[in-house]
Amino acid sequence: EGPTAVVQLEIKEDIRTALLTINSPKTLNALSEQIWSELNAHLLNLEKDDRINSVVVTGVGKAFSAGADLNQMKTNKFPNVYFNDYFERDWYKILPSFRKPIIAAVNGYCFGGGLELALMCDVILASENAKFGLPEIKLGLFPGAGGTQRIIRQVGKSKAMEMILSGEMIDAQEALHFKLASSVLPPDQLLEAALKLAKKIGKLSKVAVAAAKMAVNYSAEAGLSEGMRYESSMFNSLTGTKDAKIGVEAFLSKQKAKFVHS
Ligand code: HXC
Repeated sequence: EGPTAVVQLEIKEDIRTALLTINSPKTLNALSEQIWSELNAHLLNLEKDDRINSVVVTGVGKAFSAGADLNQMKTNKFPNVYFNDYFERDWYKILPSFRKPIIAAVNGYCFGGGLELALMCDVILASENAKFGLPEIKLGLFPGAGGTQRIIRQVGKSKAMEMILSGEMIDAQEALHFKLASSVLPPDQLLEAALKLAKKIGKLSKVAVAAAKMAVNYSAEAGLSEGMRYESSMFNSLTGTKDAKIGVEAFLSKQKAKFVHS
């Protein structure tokens, strides 16, 4: 028998949503190898799970996640990391290419790798007591899981540099101001709001939702004209799906669309 699971999975079939909860509050949900491998194993299953259209990720206690597990990171040796799935696969590959929408419900400290995890998600909702930061510089490091690349696209260069170079955190209101979070909610309403958004997505065509996510994410990798070409080829293909026919037909006949997800 392995160690007790720390990432809890709850399938909410009625709203076609999976809730993943990181439950390691004693270390502020620091991202250990175990947490990443559980998270990723769940994601790989959920990607294929027809009951699920979207995923919500949150944490137990006063942190969403305080970042990489420093007790584990201190044992790193330079050549080993190239052969260690923990970094190459677990941190960089699975979550950023996950095909279904994933909402981060940030309930507290969201630091370092925890913020990088949130930035790999599609929407960030913050509770009023959330705190966001990239404190790696204080450890003699800098953000290494997309932090330097993704945060600048959210908050702009000046704020990104301030956060990365000083390691100082920002609160939920500032995160909202700098468009890191899409909204700020009282702590007791955070999860409810995330699930409400997931439920709305859950009612839509799975195919259209996945294609939309891919098209939006493509903008981070391509210039405008290349992105537009990608968008138009995705869009044109989508017009041939059953769901697009169902959606358009339902609108024109003033009915509610019943998507078949194909
Ligand atoms: C391991 C951690 C941890 C971490 C906190 N803990 N963060 N353990 N890894 N990242 C542990 C503490 O050691 C402590 O254990 C317990 O959790 C509670 O933390 P406290 O510091 O006592 O809580 P508090 O005073 O409330 O301060 C909260 C905090 C602080 C401000 C969030 O914990 C903090 O600054 N944490 C470090 C955050 C950090 O540097 N993250 C970046 C990691 S590097 P004990 O045993 O004392 O109770 C990174 C790189 C990613 O993320 C790139 C990878 C490719």
